[in-house]
Amino acid sequence: MTSPDRNEITPEPLYLNRRNFIRAGVFAGSAAVTGLIYRAYRPDTIAPLPEEAPQAFGELAKRPEFQAGEEPNSFEDITNYNNFYEFSTSKTAVAREAQALKTDPWSVEVGGMVESPRTLSLQDILNFPQEERIYRFRCVEAWSMVIPWVGFPLAALLEQVKPTSEAKYVAFETAYDRSVMQSSFSAGIDFPYVEGLRLDEALHPLTLLATGLYGRQMPKQNGAPIRLVVPWKYGFKSIKSIVRIMLTDKEPPTTWNIAAPREYGFYSNVNPNVDHPRWSQKRERRIGEITMRETLMFNGYEKEVADLYRGMDLEKFY
Ligand code: MTE
Repeated sequence: MTSPDRNEITPEPLYLNRRNFIRAGVFAGSAAVTGLIYRAYRPDTIAPLPEEAPQAFGELAKRPEFQAGEEPNSFEDITNYNNFYEFSTSKTAVAREAQALKTDPWSVEVGGMVESPRTLSLQDILNFPQEERIYRFRCVEAWSMVIPWVGFPLAALLEQVKPTSEAKYVAFETAYDRSVMQSSFSAGIDFPYVEGLRLDEALHPLTLLATGLYGRQMPKQNGAPIRLVVPWKYGFKSIKSIVRIMLTDKEPPTTWNIAAPREYGFYSNVNPNVDHPRWSQKRERRIGEITMRETLMFNGYEKEVADLYRGMDLEKFY
C-alpha cells in the first residue's frame, strides 16, 4: 500500500525481494493515481450503483459507548473509495467489480481449537442480535473515515464455539472465487486474503463482525456478507467477506505481512509515533476534508485498548 502523496515515498529499501518490489510499485502507482482521480471527481458523480440497494435491518440497538461522536462519512464516500484487492487495486473500481461476488448462499466455518465447531449460514449470521456502532476507520495509507457499521461482537460468536485453553490466536480467511476475483499475480498479494488477532484482541468488546452499514446489509465492495472491524488497528486488519475463522495456538500469517514484512506487522495498531518505513503516520486525511488531522493513539480508542499492550515495545511489535 502507499501513502496518498507519492513525493513522500523514499526509495524502496533493499530488503524487498523482487516480487515485493514489483508489488510495492503497483501499489504506489495505482493508489496515487486513484487518489488524484477521486479528489478531482467526487464519488457521487461517478458512483456505479448496484442494481438493488442492500436490504435494510429493522430497529438496531445503539449503545452510547460505541458511538464515535463524530459526523459519519456519506454512504457514497464509504461505498465508492474501497480497498478490496481481490476485485481491483483501483479504489474507485471496486464498487463496480465487486458486484460479481455471490454472497447468498454463504457459509463461515468456525473451528480449530474450540469445543463446539460450527458452520454458520447467512441466516445464522443475521440471527445474532445486530447493533449500530459508529467507529473511526484509519487506513495505513493515511486516510480515514467515520463509518456507521451494523454488526455484533466477535466475542458473541467465540462464546458459542468455546475456545479451548490452548487457543491463543484467531485466524481469518476471505473467500477466494477465481471466477469473479483477479489472480494474486494481478493484485500483487497472495490470495486467499488472511488476517489474525490475538485471542484477547478478538474478545475485546470493540471488535466487531460487521454485517452492514448505514442500517443496511453490507455492500459487496465493503466486504459482504460479513467482515471484521477492529477500529484501533489499521484498516487492512479488517478482513472482508470472511469464510473461515480458526482458533490456533500460533500467531497466524497475515497477507500484508507476507507481502512486505518490514512494512506491515502482525499488530498494526494505529500509532502516530511509529512511522511506516515510507511515510509518516502522524497525520491523516479524513475523506471529504481538505486539511490533514492529527492521528490519535490507537485511533482514539486508547482508553479502551491500551491495557492489551502494557509492557510491549510498540516499535518492535508494529
Ligand atoms: N479484505 C480483503 N479480503 N481484501 C482486501 O484487499 N483491504 C483491506 C481491508 N480488508 C482488503 C480487506 C484494507 S487495506 C482496507 S483499508 C479496508 O479493507 C478497506 O475497507 P473499506 O473498503 O470498507 O473502506
